[in-house]
Amino acid sequence: MPSVAEHYERVLSPVYAWMSGGAEAALAAGRAEIDALNLALPAGALVVDLGAGFGMHCIPLARAGARVVAVDTSAQLLAELKRLAGDLPITIVQDDLLSFRAHLTEKAAAVLCMGDTLTHLPEHTNVDFLVQEVAEALAPGGHFVLSFRDYSEPLLEDQRFIPVRSDERRILTCFLEYEEDTVVVHDILHERAGDAWETKVSSYRKLRLSTDRVTSSLESFGFDARSEPGPRGMVRIVAKLR
Ligand SMILES: C[S@@+](CC[C@H](N)C(=O)[O-])C[C@H]1O[C@@H](n2cnc3c(N)ncnc32)[C@H](O)[C@@H]1O
Repeated sequence: MPSVAEHYERVLSPVYAWMSGGAEAALAAGRAEIDALNLALPAGALVVDLGAGFGMHCIPLARAGARVVAVDTSAQLLAELKRLAGDLPITIVQDDLLSFRAHLTEKAAAVLCMGDTLTHLPEHTNVDFLVQEVAEALAPGGHFVLSFRDYSEPLLEDQRFIPVRSDERRILTCFLEYEEDTVVVHDILHERAGDAWETKVSSYRKLRLSTDRVTSSLESFGFDARSEPGPRGMVRIVAKLR
């Protein structure tokens, strides 16, 4: 099975902005999410975006006055972020998000890990490691905001076939296959090529995280955490370092 990074390069990165409704609509949705969080960041505050993708959250944050370090493994998505960000104060880092602290020289006011990035980590123990690293990286009172899919309850039968997006040129469908601690995500992409359809199929593993498990990890590393419904069926956890 391809790694997460290989899967993105093969199938998801080239269509990620399209899958999110187009870059402009996604940036507007990201801005609405950031505004609703009401993090009260001072001008010039340092924010780290883990798994930043093409910048759905970090571009609105930088437009609102933050300095951002955006970390992602996908060269294609980071190139798109660079193009969309223009002159905004965003430092782009191509690296594994588990190594993000190597790219910081000061404490951060907030760390984000949005849009189901957390489930992409290879092992459940990586979640605890990440929470500990974020607690070390944040200034006292700093926020760690996460949104992810809670895959603890399996979808059954036909529910496992998920139409992601379609238009006259593309159809993206996803099929979920549940394992004990992980879920295999099969992405099936049909793209119009002249008179025919071309099909790409690729699969990767995600962690079956539960909201309770992530919340108790946050609490054990010194955060006060609250969970609430997030966008597109995800859960959002807003955690504040005590
Ligand atoms: C589901 S997308 C979310 C992107 C963005 N946060 C958003 O909300 O639109 C997951 C992102 O995490 C990146 N990613 C996955 N695993 C990663 C890792 N271990 N280190 C860095 N980036 C990773 C992928 O390349 C992808 O851009």
